[in-house]
This record gives sequence, structure tokens and C-alpha cells, in this order.
Amino acid sequence: GSILVLHGPNLNLLGIREPGHYGRQTLAEIDEMLQRQAAAWQLSLSSFQSNAEHALIERIHAARENTDCIIINPAAFTHTSVALRDALAGVAIPFIEVHLSNVHAREPFRRQSYFSDLALGVISGFGAHSYVLALDAARHWLQARSP
Ligand code: DQA
Repeated sequence: GSILVLHGPNLNLLGIREPGHYGRQTLAEIDEMLQRQAAAWQLSLSSFQSNAEHALIERIHAARENTDCIIINPAAFTHTSVALRDALAGVAIPFIEVHLSNVHAREPFRRQSYFSDLALGVISGFGAHSYVLALDAARHWLQARSP
């Protein structure tokens, strides 16, 4: 199985950015942890972060040929981006929506997501471990699809 992890805007600042909400781990540390876990589960994994909507959209289009499942933290685009939603719908790659913080326990505008109704599922509130939970969910989903 081949997994693509996408990180949206401002997640390059993890480690220093609002640690009360997002923890102290850097994005590099999170990607490294995911890489190790994926190897242990014999999954191939690549990750990509961008602050730009168009770059994330292009990366989703490029994933069309060779990606079984996408794990995406759309960050602030969660609440704003019809374009990113349409890109995921367009390539029809199953995806899991991830958030470090519990978006339901914060400002009301964070409860609205342009992704949740299209996602296989949503994991929110477990810090960096949210990504590991999503990887495990992707693994189970891929196994169930083609055992
Ligand atoms: C986030 C939650 C979003 O509301 C916020 O804009 C982010 C990060 C999270 O991982 O908790 O940038 O997606």
C-alpha cells in the first residue's frame, strides 16, 4: 500500500506554533515517526507540506496514478477550501482527515469542515498521535479492501 501524507498551511511551524493547541513536536519529527511506523507496517509513505493551496492541489493531482490512500491535515484550509475538497473528489483517492487539536472544542468556525463528509473518517484531538491513528486506520482500510 502507498500512502501520501499532506500537511496544510502553518504546519511547518509545529514545535513553536501555539504549543498549547499543537504540541511541541516539529513537523520533521512527526514525518520521521510516520516513516518509521509505515516501514514497520510495510507501507510506503511520502509526506508533503505547503502553505499554498495550489501546491497542495497539484500534489493531489500528481497522486492520481500511485496512491492508495491520503492522510490530510488541511489545517486552516479545512474551513475554507472548496478547491482542495474538489481536488480530492476529482482524483477519487480515499482519504482520512486529521487534526492535532480537537476542532470541536475550539472556536465555532473550526467545526465546519469542507472535507469530513467525503473522508473515510476524521481523527481530531490527539496531537501528533492523531497522524499515527490515521495511519493505522489507513492500514486497516487497505487490508479490508484487498486482504
Ligand atoms: C488544525 C486545526 C485547524 O483549525 C487549524 O487552522 C490548523 C491546524 C489541527 O491540526 O488541529 O492550522 O488542522
